[in-house]
Amino acid sequence: MVTLSVIKADIGGFVGHSNTHPEILEIAKKRLEEAKGNGILIDYYVTRCGDDLQLIMTHNKGIENKEINTLAWNIFLECAEKAKELKLYGAGQDILSTAFSGNLKGMGPGYAEIDFEERKSEPVLIFMADKTEPGAWNLPLFRIFADPFNTAGLVIDPEMHDGFTFEVHDVIEHKKVIFRCPEEMYDLLALIGQPGRYIIKYVRRKSDNEIVAATSTTRLSLIAGKYVGKDDPVMIVRAQKGLPAVGEVLEPFAFPHLVAGWMRGSHQGPFMPCSYEDAHPTRFDGPPRVMCFGFQLSNGKLIGPIDMFKDPAFDRAREQANLIADYMRRHGPFQPHLLGADELEYTTLKEVMNKFKDRFQPLE
Ligand code: F6R
Ligand code: MG
Ligand code: MG
Repeated sequence: MVTLSVIKADIGGFVGHSNTHPEILEIAKKRLEEAKGNGILIDYYVTRCGDDLQLIMTHNKGIENKEINTLAWNIFLECAEKAKELKLYGAGQDILSTAFSGNLKGMGPGYAEIDFEERKSEPVLIFMADKTEPGAWNLPLFRIFADPFNTAGLVIDPEMHDGFTFEVHDVIEHKKVIFRCPEEMYDLLALIGQPGRYIIKYVRRKSDNEIVAATSTTRLSLIAGKYVGKDDPVMIVRAQKGLPAVGEVLEPFAFPHLVAGWMRGSHQGPFMPCSYEDAHPTRFDGPPRVMCFGFQLSNGKLIGPIDMFKDPAFDRAREQANLIADYMRRHGPFQPHLLGADELEYTTLKEVMNKFKDRFQPLE
C-alpha cells in the first residue's frame, strides 16, 4: 500500500495574497528532503498555488497519520516564522490553533489523502486551487465520474460502466451520506448543487470500493467562526485503466464555472484553469485559479510533475473566464457577484451591518 498525502496551508502571501515567497518553498523542500532521508517519506514535491503552499508526499503510513501530520504542521510553523520575519502578508494565516496534538482536523491546513495498492501504472492528477472553497470540486467531480457527456468511458469502458459512489459531507451538520451513480444521480445533484454546504469528499469505484478521488473539505470560516481567508482546496484524482482517462479528468475544467471566493472571499467568479506560472491571482485578488500537476507513481516515487493546464487547448477556457470576470465585475457590490446572505455570514460585511442595526424601525 502507498499513501499519497497532499497537505496545504496559506502561511503568508507575497505580495498581498497573490503568491508565495521562494524562501518559504525552500524551507519546505529542505524539511521534506530530511524526512525522505530519515525514511519517513518515500518521496515528495513542494509547490505553491497563489499564496498557498502545498506539500505533496508519498509514504507507507496510511491516511491521517500522526507522524506525517506533525511533519507538515512543523513545516508550516517554521514557514510562518520566516513569513513573519519577511513581514509577508497574513503570515501564519491558516494556523488557527496552537493546540496541535498530531491531528490536522480543525487546525486550519487542508488535506486530501488516498491509500491504495499501486497499479501496474498509476497516473495521478493533483489539483490545487486559490481564492475559492472546497465545493468548487463538486461540479467537475460530478462530470468526471457521473456524466457520460464528459466521460466517454462511462459508456464505452466495461470496467467503468457500473459507475461510482460519491461520499458527500455536510460541513454544517458534520454528517456524511453516500450516493450510488448513475442510479441515485438526481439525489446526489440535489445536494452537491449547494457547494457551500455539501462537499464531495471521496469518489469510489463501485466494483471494488477503491477510492479514486479525494478532496480537502476544510472550511476555515466554519472552524474560526469568522472570515480568515478562503480554504483554497486541493484534490487528488487517479486516472486510466478502468478509471476516467487523464483527458476525461481534465475536460470539465474547459468550462470555467462560477465558484465562491475571489476578493475578500465574498464574490462569485469564474474558476480559471492555468499553468503553474499563471497560478498567481492578481486581478481583484483573482479570479479564482486552478492548476493541476500530473505524476506517474513508481513504487511510491513521484515521477513528474507535468503541468497539465499548460496546454493551448485550455486557452479558450481562460479567455472565457476573463470575459466572465469582466461581466461579473460590472455588478460591483451587487449579487450575484456578491455571495448570498448565508455565505456572507462569515465575512466582515456582518460587522458593517451591525453598525446600523439599531437604526431599523418597524414598517407600518
Ligand atoms: C481572498 C483573500 C483576499 C483578502 C483581501 C483583503 O481569499 O484572501 O481577497 O480578503 O486582500 O485582505 P485584508 O482584509 O487582509 O486587507
Ligand atoms: Mg492568503
Ligand atoms: Mg490562498
